[in-house]
Amino acid sequence: MQVTFCRLRTHQWCFILFNVILFHALLFGADFVEEYFLHALPYVDMKVAEIKDKARKLNMDPLRSNLSKYYILNQPEVCKGKNIFLLSFIFSSPGNGTRRDLIRTTWGSMTNIQGQSILTLFALGLPVLVTTQQEIDNESHKNNDIIEGIFLDSAENQTLKIIMMTQWAVTFCPNALFILKVEEEMFVNLPSLVDYLLNLKEHREDIYVGRVIHQALPNSDTNSQGSVTLNEYHEKYYPDYCSGEAFIMSQGVARMVYVVFREVPITVPADVFIGICAKSVGLVPIHSSRFSGKRHIRYNRCCYKFMFTSSETTDAEVFLAWKEINSGNECTLFESYYGLISCKLLTYLDSFKRFHMGTIKNNAMNFGD
Ligand SMILES: *[C@@H]1O[C@H](CO)[C@@H](O)[C@H](O)[C@H]1NC(C)=O
Ligand SMILES: *[C@@H]1O[C@H](CO)[C@@H](O)[C@H](O)[C@H]1NC(C)=O
Ligand SMILES: *[C@@H]1O[C@H](CO)[C@@H](O)[C@H](O)[C@H]1NC(C)=O
Ligand SMILES: *[C@@H]1O[C@H](CO)[C@@H](O)[C@H](O)[C@H]1NC(C)=O
Repeated sequence: MQVTFCRLRTHQWCFILFNVILFHALLFGADFVEEYFLHALPYVDMKVAEIKDKARKLNMDPLRSNLSKYYILNQPEVCKGKNIFLLSFIFSSPGNGTRRDLIRTTWGSMTNIQGQSILTLFALGLPVLVTTQQEIDNESHKNNDIIEGIFLDSAENQTLKIIMMTQWAVTFCPNALFILKVEEEMFVNLPSLVDYLLNLKEHREDIYVGRVIHQALPNSDTNSQGSVTLNEYHEKYYPDYCSGEAFIMSQGVARMVYVVFREVPITVPADVFIGICAKSVGLVPIHSSRFSGKRHIRYNRCCYKFMFTSSETTDAEVFLAWKEINSGNECTLFESYYGLISCKLLTYLDSFKRFHMGTIKNNAMNFGD
């Protein structure tokens, strides 16, 4: 075997090399293209300067003294006097106390990373049942980490939730530098996310980063937020926006969003809503392929150490990922490389399988017609 390998001619070596390069190009090419070329041109005018000025001078005092008008449960003191680096807002459904408990004992339990303060809170709307509300009251009393707004927590009302979250952050946590919005079904690798944020070269006040969705069509909405029935958005495409499973905005961005949000139709999905607000203040979302978006990343220790998030993680996976990320076992360069290759390949295979299943299901439905 070794002998024949050594006897390969130059053109045969070239062929092997070519295949290796092609393999990597196909596997990582999309990420590379997304990361470096997916930058829309920022749009700036006088209005933006005015909005920035308003955002700096926002007066939230009336809201602070009228709390019960906006929130059932609130934690007005949790940020007081602290310099929070990252405020995580986990969008949770009212009845899912077990998932919240799991997050509290795993990735949501971190309060300090590289000397930076981390705060984790849960964002809820109203439950349908009164008994669920009693359970939430108890849970809140015990953990002091629930913010509950006055609207029914339904798929259609997630945009109200994101407005509530933004309002809460600018009112009660004006000294939080970054705000993470994340769904409860996600696993988040906070240490690598914090490391990334600490090394950002852009202006920290203007960060809006996540997995950027490019040129989405308003009327082909089949995402988890539920289809938009009364869509008042009339452009051909949505502006670029960060996928709602997990994204980050800085305090400055949250404040600007809060200044302009009343001009944006509330019927668009929550993540698109923030994207439209961001565009109207001249912000361009930053893409990072380390955010998984809707994709579930197949579990691999070194891959999870590199990625920021993974979607649809089971309770067992969350527990495992959390334990191994904190074990202190570093990944060698080769392990990281191997981990990325294998989890990327498997993730592509999974999405291919899912796509295939989707077409089969659609075909079956067409037959039924
Ligand atoms: C509470 O809200 C009302 C109207 O929404 C406003 O007129 C009033 O000034 C607020 N209260 C305080 C103390 O700011
Ligand atoms: C809430 O806590 C109280 C007192 O600790 C307890 O009596 C009550 O049963 C609890 N309610 C629910 C719904 O868990
Ligand atoms: C959204 O919340 C409002 C306020 O609670 C409620 O009246 C409305 O029915 C909710 N919408 C949906 C679709 O659940
Ligand atoms: C709770 O959250 C998990 C993870 O997202 C999900 O699989 C489960 O269905 C949820 N349960 C309820 C009762 O909402």
